[in-house]
Amino acid sequence: MRALLLGWTPSGTVCGIIGCVSDEEVAGVLLDGLKRVEYRGYDSAGMATVSGGAMEVRKGAGRVNDIEEKMRLSSMEGKIGIAHTRWATHGGVTDANAHPQTSCREQVAVVHNGIIQNYAQLKAALMKKGHRFKSETDTEVVAHIIEEEYKRTKDPLAATRAATKALKGQYAIAVMIQERPDVLVGARKDAPLIVGVGDGKMFLASDVLAFIGRTDRTIFLDNREVVEVTRTSVRIVEPSGKEVVRRPNQVAWELSDLSKSDYAHYTLKEINEQPHTVSNAYLQDREKLAEFARMIKGAKSLFITASGTSYHAALLMKFRLNEAGIMCDAVVSGELKEHAAFLRKGSVVVALSQSGETADTIEAVKVAKKRGAKVLSVVNAVGSSLARESEEVLLLNCGPEVGVAATKSFTAQVVVANMVVDAVLGMKRIRPAKGLTEAVRKALQMESKVVELAKRYADRSDFYFVARGYEAPVAMEGALKLKELSYIHAEGMPASELKHGTLALIEKGTPVIVVNPSGSNHADTLSSAEEMKARGAEVIGISDVRDDVYTHYVQVPALQSKLMPVVEVIPLQLLAYHMAVVRKNDPDYPRNLAKSVTVK
Ligand code: G6P
Repeated sequence: MRALLLGWTPSGTVCGIIGCVSDEEVAGVLLDGLKRVEYRGYDSAGMATVSGGAMEVRKGAGRVNDIEEKMRLSSMEGKIGIAHTRWATHGGVTDANAHPQTSCREQVAVVHNGIIQNYAQLKAALMKKGHRFKSETDTEVVAHIIEEEYKRTKDPLAATRAATKALKGQYAIAVMIQERPDVLVGARKDAPLIVGVGDGKMFLASDVLAFIGRTDRTIFLDNREVVEVTRTSVRIVEPSGKEVVRRPNQVAWELSDLSKSDYAHYTLKEINEQPHTVSNAYLQDREKLAEFARMIKGAKSLFITASGTSYHAALLMKFRLNEAGIMCDAVVSGELKEHAAFLRKGSVVVALSQSGETADTIEAVKVAKKRGAKVLSVVNAVGSSLARESEEVLLLNCGPEVGVAATKSFTAQVVVANMVVDAVLGMKRIRPAKGLTEAVRKALQMESKVVELAKRYADRSDFYFVARGYEAPVAMEGALKLKELSYIHAEGMPASELKHGTLALIEKGTPVIVVNPSGSNHADTLSSAEEMKARGAEVIGISDVRDDVYTHYVQVPALQSKLMPVVEVIPLQLLAYHMAVVRKNDPDYPRNLAKSVTVK
């Protein structure tokens, strides 16, 4: 197994899908796969298999582990099956709404990630024809339409193709038909679906993690393609109806990356992987960096776009480009279309995304491309939708990130963004910055101090994170982490803004985190800290230099200023994680969230 991860394969869906047709029983394989894609959605789960000519479906509300026990999923028989773990969009979290969804007589079973926008019209038409529905999901219509089409064509692929033509919206589906226990069909539009090519078995999945360890050969499907797999064959049909032959890609992976090792949670493991992942982020192709630099310098207008944590890395990149005299804006992906007047031929959009599947980011780049802009992207997932929409792609090389809250992908983004800006500035060096790995290790050593803080402040209802300049996005990232993992209200903002409103909320005992490295903003930020302390705040300083104003001080090592966010964010990630643990939240699976949001 390879030790080095040069990127990994598509990630990112609001639900996790896996299907397998095999020469062996599949229940165990499906269950394993389901647990590995659970971070994409975890409110209900289910599995369907065909055995002895009969379809069996077991599913229910709850996490995979609960359903597994309650429904004894591992005892399901059959050499073909599909499985799903859900993040509810249409229809509440109930047993009936869990996937797989089936047609009237349970002839057809479907698992789906995405949203069928015209499901209400389709449902009404199907009901008129006598179809009876068992759930409130948009997905169920797909099973019913395929049932009708299969009756007519007796061809699983043709029936699925015909059904997809009726669908509006986004989907990645895997389809199983009782009469054809030798065949699985998949289809995708604006949601990821890949084929895993094994020996005597084939997989359909939303993510390579689902079958890692069983095969490393993957075929990426393009948008609107339909695929039919048997144990030994793959047939891909383009939207035009033409068949395409596509060879599998070998995926660089390491099975151990999917275990939690000795860590209690994936999130903690991923935080601790950062000494290694920040140096891996430097493994960039010189030519590609030069191409990024060339396009950025030549851009008539320049935007950096991203969502969530990736947006905070985008803000850091914008700061450095602006500092270098290059005008650009960082815009959250869901809002980029509002800047359409500045997106035209000659514009460049740099998109940052861990998964490469975030719907808002994909839509943003599509809008930009339509208006003539060129797209560059920085992703962790090789072969992801965003990578395929882009002119040039740089990889984060930080391995699979399973914890829903982004951690190691953020620090890798900071490194790669800095390399791009350095290339724009004509710097040639692409070796890891001296002392960075060691500095990250030192920042991680502050964990026991952070645990104390987590215990002390875990019962608070509000937290404020402030910083100035280049550190302001770090404050915003700290607040986002805390909200996601601990469910405590938190705000991150430039320290200069405090006096324009937020100071009114500071009272005796309010915890305020101040990210304040030595440098030109240091003294002003200390003054902000004093102002808050004078109003009763308990100030937690994250800095390379101690000061008396801090009620608590978390020391981070000094580094060149452009890389300080890498070490400053680590105590903030650890704080959010330990706060979640103290509050008995599951840090890997925060409520209501999904790792990558493939719906708008
Ligand atoms: C979701 C995740 C966040 C992530 C954001 C953007 O909201 O929960 O952790 O930062 O998506 O994801 P991306 O894959 O585009 O970086």
